[in-house]
Amino acid sequence: MTLKIAPSLLAADFSRLGEEIRKVEQNGADWLHIDVMDGHFVPNLTIGPIIVRAVRALSKLPLDVHLMITDPEKYLEAFARAGSSLITIHVEAAKEKTPEILSQIHHLGLKAGLALSPDTPLSAAEKYLDQTDMVLLMTVHPGFGGQKFIAEVLPKVEALRKRYSKDIEVDGGIDADTAPRAVAKGANVLVAGTYIFRSPDPKESIRLLRQCQ
Ligand code: DX5
Ligand code: ZN
Repeated sequence: MTLKIAPSLLAADFSRLGEEIRKVEQNGADWLHIDVMDGHFVPNLTIGPIIVRAVRALSKLPLDVHLMITDPEKYLEAFARAGSSLITIHVEAAKEKTPEILSQIHHLGLKAGLALSPDTPLSAAEKYLDQTDMVLLMTVHPGFGGQKFIAEVLPKVEALRKRYSKDIEVDGGIDADTAPRAVAKGANVLVAGTYIFRSPDPKESIRLLRQCQ
């Protein structure tokens, strides 16, 4: 599977967002990962559709929008209109509304992803897999950048890859040490915030992540 690198803007310098985006775009990023948090599903507040729209105007890369919010169905249209390419919802937030929300995302003409927090078993997503274009397996507890990779998630990546041929994304604590371990188990989309944006040499960080292939 093609490896995709998705820098997480959460770790970027928002006072120079245009420059930050150009830097990763020129250095080989495949997607831009945008972390949306509502202070309810997770204990942090971040980005809304206004920023997604601004990012859309700054880049041609696909926008990978990770919704860590309660009642995601209420905001799908706003994030679609803002220029999202792929919208990922959390199964822990969508619960029994998951199939309906995934099909709403498809009806908006976008790709749909389903995210699982580290403690959520694969069985919670099993029956919805056919409706997804991507599964995001969180390798930290959602809410903050800069956390330590949770290696206990790796068997879940391996188990999912046995029955799922589409994109498997890992997100949280991804760097040159942890990325090859996730890729070896079958992950093919690597989200990295701190490792790319806080690096003295983001180009080299992206190059090292790409070497996992
Ligand atoms: C965490 C977010 C991640 C985060 C990754 O809730 O979903 O995308 O920004 O950041 P790093 O790479 O710093 O762990
Ligand atoms: Zn994320």
